[in-house]
Amino acid sequence: MPFTVNDFFKKKQAGEKIAMITAYDFCSAAMAQEAGIDVLLVGDSLGMVVQGLENTLPVTMDEMIYHTKMVSRAAKGAFVIADMPYMSYQVSVEQAVANAGRFLKEVGAHAVKLEGGRESADKVKAIVAADIPVMAHIGLTPQSIHRMGGFKVQGKTGESARILMEDARILQDAGAFSIVLEAIPAALAAEITAAFSIPTIGIGAGPGCDGQVLVIHDVLGMFDRFVPKFVKRYADLKKDGVKALSEYRQEVEKGIFPSSENSF
Ligand code: KIV
Repeated sequence: MPFTVNDFFKKKQAGEKIAMITAYDFCSAAMAQEAGIDVLLVGDSLGMVVQGLENTLPVTMDEMIYHTKMVSRAAKGAFVIADMPYMSYQVSVEQAVANAGRFLKEVGAHAVKLEGGRESADKVKAIVAADIPVMAHIGLTPQSIHRMGGFKVQGKTGESARILMEDARILQDAGAFSIVLEAIPAALAAEITAAFSIPTIGIGAGPGCDGQVLVIHDVLGMFDRFVPKFVKRYADLKKDGVKALSEYRQEVEKGIFPSSENSF
């Protein structure tokens, strides 16, 4: 049975956790699909872990379309969410709706995600009115890195926590079906989760959220430029990959590979 937008609510109501992971290409999406992950997020984090950029700001709509197309091809039942990149929705409501629509119309996404609190509410409302489900994203919003002065935990003071709580309400009222809470205190995330009917998906927001998301390169240990405190590594594919590739290099250099078994 494919995972649908209704399953987010069913799982919240049943007290079952939602498992979400990023995916950027056919192979990573196929692995996540086979592992039974509910939701695949084609995150603009691909700018950092795939393209090697310092932050997500340069990622373009065309790049997101390209990666979403590959992920959708591998998704056999998982719910695919495409991240709207910086400057694909900020300029106007019309721009936001047109760009969101491309993900469903051209490359098979089931929903879009966009960052921001009350300042994004008019875009959320208009995109939802075009029958496109929207996941919101508050707390540490990487597209606001320069306003925030870096990748910093948000909502640590009473006033900033109050603003986040209000933003969550405004986004729920605007029609978002779910909301990512990134890098905020666990107690605040649990409070937001209890206060609203839309499911919360945490990343660095503690165990009290309705679901969790991580970047697949972090989970598999493929990206070691920096590893945030909230990441748990379940494999060390970079180490394994370097080991395998140096064995391959040595065998090529010594003429061991290809053997007769690998030859016609
Ligand atoms: O871009 C991304 O991968 C994200 C998640 C980490 C929430 O926004």
